[in-house]
Amino acid sequence: TQTLTVLGIESSCDDTAAAIVRLQGDKAEVLSSIVKGQNDLHAEFGGVVPEIAARAHAERVDICVEEALAESGYALSELDAIAVTSGPGLIGGVLSGVMCAKGLSAATGLPLIGVNHLAGHALTPRLTDSVTFPYLMLLVSGGHCQFLIAESFDTFRRIGGTIDDAPGEAFDKTARLLALPQPGGPHVEKCARDGDPKKFPLPRPLLNQPGCDMSFSGLKTAILRARDGVVAEKGGLTEQDRADLSAGFQAAVTDILVEKTRRALNEYFALEPKNRIFAIAGGVAANGPIRDALMGLCREHNTEFVAPPLRLCTDNAAMIAYAGAVRFAEGANDPEHLTARPRWPL
Ligand code: KG4
Ligand code: ZN
Repeated sequence: TQTLTVLGIESSCDDTAAAIVRLQGDKAEVLSSIVKGQNDLHAEFGGVVPEIAARAHAERVDICVEEALAESGYALSELDAIAVTSGPGLIGGVLSGVMCAKGLSAATGLPLIGVNHLAGHALTPRLTDSVTFPYLMLLVSGGHCQFLIAESFDTFRRIGGTIDDAPGEAFDKTARLLALPQPGGPHVEKCARDGDPKKFPLPRPLLNQPGCDMSFSGLKTAILRARDGVVAEKGGLTEQDRADLSAGFQAAVTDILVEKTRRALNEYFALEPKNRIFAIAGGVAANGPIRDALMGLCREHNTEFVAPPLRLCTDNAAMIAYAGAVRFAEGANDPEHLTARPRWPL
């Protein structure tokens, strides 16, 4: 079997990343994976500022590539191809990565492969757990929320997703409302441990609507109202109020994700897969109670639950190198005028 060693570059949101992945037949190995986050740069603005992100990517992407090469023990000239996220994402950031990849490709003559960021996430369970197609996937992060049935390396069927905000964004917003640090997810999770999820009744939008679509923006508004109610009454929030609001919010998100996953599983089972597999990816998949609830649902449905290690299910370049390697193995070779695409549905 053919062995391919591929450099991956990722810069579509607020993580600059480079990685080297080796693909041998069906087996893939992550030789190195460097991720440089930007939380410190955006903290004072309460969200990712595209201009700041783009400049930071441009400054750091070369360093990430150097570190990824050094850690892997490979020289650039020993690689087989260069893969880069060419969308979807913040255009300035995507361009920083694409320019870097084009430069390296022009200098070395190595083939250039453009990768869809979402395909990178969706193929991660194959990289980490060698799962077989078709599998059901829930991508749930600060920027994404969708169910995909992965049928092959380049066939992903989207069977539902958020119609407004992503849950990670709602976790971050909730943290801001409760004066907890960013990124909010882990802090809301921690705070919720001491809370009563029933203290503040919160809505579960679309829960009983048919299909797998979800909505989280009404929940954000409901948390804002509930907080303002407490503040109006007592002049501020106690630790217990913060815990109760966090717990209520997290329970609502969990209920929505579990109910919609139940429906998505049914659509997936209709394909009669030989092995029933449900995989999750994205930062929100790190949430303990959400993970446990989805795991329980899978147990009930006799379905294998696959959760890649967190460093590979949040934004990283190993998934891009891997997706690029499988595309390259199938003959892909994108031209040097490959463009960056801010929108690019799978
Ligand atoms: O996948 P990711 O690193 O980046 C993208 O959004 O693409 O996801 C980050 C998101 C943030 O919104 C963060 O608050 C959320 O994932 N997150 C969590 C947890 N850890 C990270 N949300 C809930 N519970 C967590 N433990
Ligand atoms: Zn992502």
